[in-house]
Amino acid sequence: MTLQSSQLTSIDPIDAPLTLQCGLTLPNRLVKCPMQETLATAPTYDPPVETFANLYARWARANYGLIITGQVQVDLRFLSVRGDVVTHEHSLESPYIEAWKEWATISKAGGTPCIVQLAHPGRMSAAGAGVRPPDMPTMCPSSVPVKLGDSWLDKLALDKILGTPKAMTLDEIDHVVHLFKHAARVAHTAGFDGIQLHGAHGFLLSQFLSPHTNLRTDDYGGTPEKRLTLLKRLVTEIRAEHPAPFCLAVKLNSADYMEAGQGLQQDEGLEQVRWLVNCGMVDFVEISGGNAENKTSGLHQSFGKKSIDQAPAKNQSTRIREAFFTDFAEKVQNLNSPVPIQLSGGFRSRNGMADAIDSGVCQMIGLGRAAVLDPGLPREIILNRDIPDDEAFAQSHIVRGQWFVRMIPFKVVGRGLGLQFFYHNMRRLGRGLNSAPNISIPMLLFVDAIETVRSGLFTTLGRVLQGFSLYRTAQKVD
Ligand SMILES: Cc1cc2nc3c(=O)[nH]c(=O)nc-3n(C[C@H](O)[C@H](O)[C@H](O)COP(=O)(O)O)c2cc1C
Repeated sequence: MTLQSSQLTSIDPIDAPLTLQCGLTLPNRLVKCPMQETLATAPTYDPPVETFANLYARWARANYGLIITGQVQVDLRFLSVRGDVVTHEHSLESPYIEAWKEWATISKAGGTPCIVQLAHPGRMSAAGAGVRPPDMPTMCPSSVPVKLGDSWLDKLALDKILGTPKAMTLDEIDHVVHLFKHAARVAHTAGFDGIQLHGAHGFLLSQFLSPHTNLRTDDYGGTPEKRLTLLKRLVTEIRAEHPAPFCLAVKLNSADYMEAGQGLQQDEGLEQVRWLVNCGMVDFVEISGGNAENKTSGLHQSFGKKSIDQAPAKNQSTRIREAFFTDFAEKVQNLNSPVPIQLSGGFRSRNGMADAIDSGVCQMIGLGRAAVLDPGLPREIILNRDIPDDEAFAQSHIVRGQWFVRMIPFKVVGRGLGLQFFYHNMRRLGRGLNSAPNISIPMLLFVDAIETVRSGLFTTLGRVLQGFSLYRTAQKVD
C-alpha cells in the first residue's frame, strides 16, 4: 500500500461540508435524527430547558453536521406521546418564547446548525396525550381507525387508547395549516435555522399522503396528486413567509410497508419525492419508511434483531446490510435530485456511511438510536481520525429483555416498549447521566415507575413548601 492510499479514509466523504440551497452550510454529512425526547411537562409543554441543557448540549458538542430536534407538536390538544414539546397560542410571547430561544442557543452552542421538526399525530394521538376533553376524537383525513392485532384485547385497548378518528372538515384542515405556520414562526423567532415537516411514520401529514388513511374525494384526496395537496400547501405557504436562509426540509416515507398492495406504495412515494425535490422550495428531503400503526418501519422491526458486531470492511456492499431504505434511495438517485437526500435508518459504521455517500444514494446520513446510546458518536468515533475505518462503528442498537414484550397481551402496548428504552436513555442524558445501553425492558420500566413516584412526591412536597412560604409571606404582609 502506498503512503498516499493508506491516508485515504472513509472519513473524507462524511467530513465534507454541504451547502444547502437556502445557503445554510452543514460542516459535515452526519445528521442527528429527529427523536421525540418526552421531557416536556404539562400544562403547556414548552421546551424543558433544564433537561435540554444537558441533552442537547451533548449533541451540540458532538460535531454533527446538522441537528434536527425531536418532533414538536403544533396542537396542544393532540400530542403523539406525553412529554412532546408543543407550540401553543402563547409560544411567541414572554416567558414562553424565552424557553424556545434558550433551546436554540443550547443546541447551536457548538456551531452546528439546528432545525425543528414540526408534526401533528392525527389519528395516532393516544388518550391522555394532549390537552383535550376525553370525548374529543382524534383527527384523520378519513375516519379510518387504527388496527393493531386481531385479538379482542387488542381491539378493546385500541378503542380505549386511540378510538375512531373523525374525518377532518375543510375548516379543520385550514386550522392545521395555520398551526404549522404558527409553529414555524416560533422556531424562526427563537433562532433555529429552519424547520422540517414530519411527513413520515403514519402521522397526520403521512396520513394525507397514504391511500390507506386518505379516502377523501375532495381537493385533498382521491388521486396521488391530490393526496399531496396538504403537504404542497404547507411547503408553499411556509416558504413564502420564511425565505432563504431559513431552511425548509421534509421527512417522507418511502412506503408504508403494509400488507401486499395496502397503504403507500414505493411508486407513489417516489412521485412525492419528485415533487419535493423539483419544487424549488425544499432544501433537503429525509427518507424514512414504515408505519407506526403496523410497526413496519425498519426501526420497529430491528429492536430485537442481532446486528453487526464488527465494522464491515471497506468495499464490501456495506450499505445493503446497514441502511433500511437503500433500495428506495437508489430509485430516488435516478431522479437526479437537485437537493440533497438524507437517508435515515440502520447506519452504524463509518464504512457503511461513506459507501452510501460515495455511491450517490444519499448526501446526508441520519443517526437516530446511535445518537442516544452514544451522543458524542461523530466526534469520538465516526470523524475521529485516530480510529481506523474498520474499527469505527456505533454500538449495537439491540434492546435487551424482548421476552418481556412477548409476554404482554396487548400489541399496542408491547410493541412500543423498544422505543421506551430510547426515551429512558434520553431522560438519563437529560439528567446529566450517560445512557445505559444494557438496561433491559423490565428493569427500565421498574426504574421509570420508581422515578415517577419519586418525582410525584417531590412535586407534592414542593407544592406544600410553596404553600407554606406563601402563607408566611401573607402573614408578614398582614
Ligand atoms: C426514541 C425514538 C424517537 C423517535 N422520534 C422521532 C420523531 O420525533 N420524528 C421522526 O421523524 N422520527 C423519529 N424517530 C425515528 C428516527 O428519526 C429514525 O428515523 C429512526 O430511528 C431510524 O434511524 P436509526 O436506525 O439511526 O435509529 C424516533 C426514533 C426513536 C428511536
